[in-house]
Amino acid sequence: MDFEQIRTPAYVVDEKKLENNLLILKNVSDRSQAKILLAQKAFSMYRVYPLIKKYLCGATASGIFEARLAAEELGGENHIFCPAFTEEEMKEAVNICDHIVFNSLTQLELHRKIWENAGVSVGIRINPEFSTQEGHEIYDPCARGSRLGVTRENLPSVLPKGVTGLHFHTLCEQNVQPLIDTFRAVEEKFGDALSQISWINLGGGHHITREDYDIDALCELVMYIRKKYGIEVYLEPGEAVALNAGYLVTTVMDIVTNDMPILILDTSAACHMPDVLEMPYRPPLKNAGLPSEKAFTCRLSSCTCLAGDVIGDYSFDDMPKVGDRLVFEDMAIYSMVKNNTFNGMPLPDIVLMHGNGDCELVKRFGYADFKERLS
Ligand SMILES: Cc1ncc(COP(=O)(O)O)c(C=O)c1O
Repeated sequence: MDFEQIRTPAYVVDEKKLENNLLILKNVSDRSQAKILLAQKAFSMYRVYPLIKKYLCGATASGIFEARLAAEELGGENHIFCPAFTEEEMKEAVNICDHIVFNSLTQLELHRKIWENAGVSVGIRINPEFSTQEGHEIYDPCARGSRLGVTRENLPSVLPKGVTGLHFHTLCEQNVQPLIDTFRAVEEKFGDALSQISWINLGGGHHITREDYDIDALCELVMYIRKKYGIEVYLEPGEAVALNAGYLVTTVMDIVTNDMPILILDTSAACHMPDVLEMPYRPPLKNAGLPSEKAFTCRLSSCTCLAGDVIGDYSFDDMPKVGDRLVFEDMAIYSMVKNNTFNGMPLPDIVLMHGNGDCELVKRFGYADFKERLS
């Protein structure tokens, strides 16, 4: 089918744009020897894992289900980090993962017997206590009181037996300078540990596939770390893998008026793009402008009961009509992985747009998907 025939609401992933991002990431790993993993928390559309596999060396998981998905659908290196694991999860993790990252020394010791016997590579997540972002405390693992990562004060100068790696994740949608600054802080605080490991994982939050990202500086940093410490360097971007590589296509179902025209769409911020409310942010909308920039300003909202289920105010050259289709951009990441059926809202279709423009329906959800999560 072509784009116009897609039933809405639908997430449409643009294969060509995804592959362009993957080429950029592959170029980084070829130039710097960095090992790049897909952070599945951002994007787990496993229909395209065969494509991703051609360019990345594996995946990282935030829990056992993501790890299982990577083992079944992607292959390659399989890493996992979770603040805490149950014994059952750990027994499964050591079978399907080659790298396990613990968030505390107590978790490391609690599961020691299981991971030691399995012979997997084990790391500790550290907290450099070095914030490089303002305004989004919810996305700052270095914020005061953070549970994420062992602080210097709590890490012994000789790493526990069997620990071969360190991991930190502190960035969110950032260019390379905050990473360089963070690594300098890691060297200052954890320099003694860097000489005791064989790999370091610099986490995610690197907006590598954004146009203005300084790829040369990233490669330089990775090569510096590899050379100076003689260790492997991992990056685990989520966003950068599918940045700007997807759309959420929606239809205007009604237009009501209260101070301004309010479009009621067949999608929902709360259900289909929760980051719009959580972060919060304003998703780009094709052919639309900021409020008052174009002739007609409208509020875009949804079919749910939540008064605040508003995507934002946008302006248009022509007044939208019932039945019009609108296209939100940059909707591949943190969308499908976070959606929900609050209010019994149907889940959007998942569509893959191939390089020639052909759109393949990958998955359609229905009432059963709503009911099966309830009892
Ligand atoms: C431990 C870890 N690694 C990687 C990522 C991926 O980050 P991003 O999608 O911003 O690149 C996250 C995001 O929360 C994370 O918590």
